[in-house]
Amino acid sequence: MSEHFDVHGGARLTGEVEVVGAKNSVLKLMAAALLAEGTTTITNCPRILDVPLMADVLRSVGCHVEIDDDVVRITTPAELSHEASSGAMSKLRASVCVLGPLVGKLKKAVVALPGGDAIGSRPLDMHQNGLRKLGATSAIEHGCVVAQAEGLHGAQIWLDFPSVGATENILMAAVLAEGTTVIDNAAREPEIADIAAMLGEMGAKISGAGTSTLTVEGVAELKPTEHRVIGDRIVGATWAFAAAMTRGDVTVTGVDPHHLELVLEKLRLAGAEVTTYDGKGFRVRQPERPQSVDFVTLPYPGFATDLQPFAVALSSVSDGTSMITENVYEARFRFIEEMVRLGADARTDGHHAVVRGVEQLSSAPVWASDIRAGAGLVLAGLCADGITEVWDVFHIDRGYPHFVENLNRLGARIDRVGTSGPEGG
Ligand code: EPZ
Repeated sequence: MSEHFDVHGGARLTGEVEVVGAKNSVLKLMAAALLAEGTTTITNCPRILDVPLMADVLRSVGCHVEIDDDVVRITTPAELSHEASSGAMSKLRASVCVLGPLVGKLKKAVVALPGGDAIGSRPLDMHQNGLRKLGATSAIEHGCVVAQAEGLHGAQIWLDFPSVGATENILMAAVLAEGTTVIDNAAREPEIADIAAMLGEMGAKISGAGTSTLTVEGVAELKPTEHRVIGDRIVGATWAFAAAMTRGDVTVTGVDPHHLELVLEKLRLAGAEVTTYDGKGFRVRQPERPQSVDFVTLPYPGFATDLQPFAVALSSVSDGTSMITENVYEARFRFIEEMVRLGADARTDGHHAVVRGVEQLSSAPVWASDIRAGAGLVLAGLCADGITEVWDVFHIDRGYPHFVENLNRLGARIDRVGTSGPEGG
């Protein structure tokens, strides 16, 4: 029997919460360690299920990986295997990010197709096209991406869509290619800039990180380094939405508010008082019932698709009607079916959702279908009368360190019921 959370409704969250390193950066930084023989140390790592899963992927190609609290040490041997096939691959989308480093370092790779959140089709065509442009062959065979190259050379690469994963894989292959690579329409997420910063510390020559044009001058060799992961903006924003939904007053530290400018602006439109502390954090205080706001998900610096479930949850208790448009993943509105169980007045039509706010949601048993949907259901449960049971919480543990502990410290009442989780709630 899987675990569930009992979420007691009627909480008003107040206090301070610290955010640690970003899941969507640390996993790629761990993959980048494959590019340099020796020990790479990554600090400020989140205590989430995905980190040991990624460690297993790296062990499957011959690395030695130590996880010591919030520090991960990866020792890459001289002899690496090009076949990444651990069972962990099927649980983790980010595992595909060993493809670029293996092709970059070994000129060949066999990487099992990744798993991860079921939020829509997640093809790898842009990853493969980018590697082909660098001179590799690439095909899907027997459930694996198989790539091979005599040598890699610089290229001009246009992405059809600013894919985060494709930008990262191409970048991590191009750093050891001969000549100059330009990735146009590249992803601009802060996590990309964090990976480029670590690669730069390892000796790579990269410019334009965080813009839509990334330029990479290939080098012959990279060296291991020590790098601190940037704060997790998606977790930081989760606390911001939690404060707004519960009419609370929460100060969030450890995340750069510049990475959340549009999100915080949306919360101001919903009636929140938002104060930012340069580079360090922000405070969200919601004195009245939130006002309805519309949201449109887009690649960074647009409103992140990973925050869409929180936009729906906030809209479900706001005063008025909101339109939420999902432009990145076609199946990410599955979450709404569970919100309707909680009494939300919400319906979808293609990639639009219309949500009419209600005074109060009503508790019910609901199921998490992915990381963000799970966290969104917990926040909705805080705004419901009665006790909401949120099931399949392993999804939440994949992306949120000490989730229940942090919420209870802010004044919520949530119990983890069933076999103990990674951190015992
Ligand atoms: C990353 O996924 C994040 N995951 C996702 O966060 C996030 O939702 C996503 O970026 C968008 O911001 C990690 O970093 C581990 P994409 P990724 O490649 O790299 C299409 C979470 O909750 N596409 O930018 O897989 C794709 O289908 C997770 O933490 C192609 O068509 O995202 C999608 O519609 C969920 N072909 C869109 O692009 C390709 O070759 C964006 O995907 C690649 C992508």
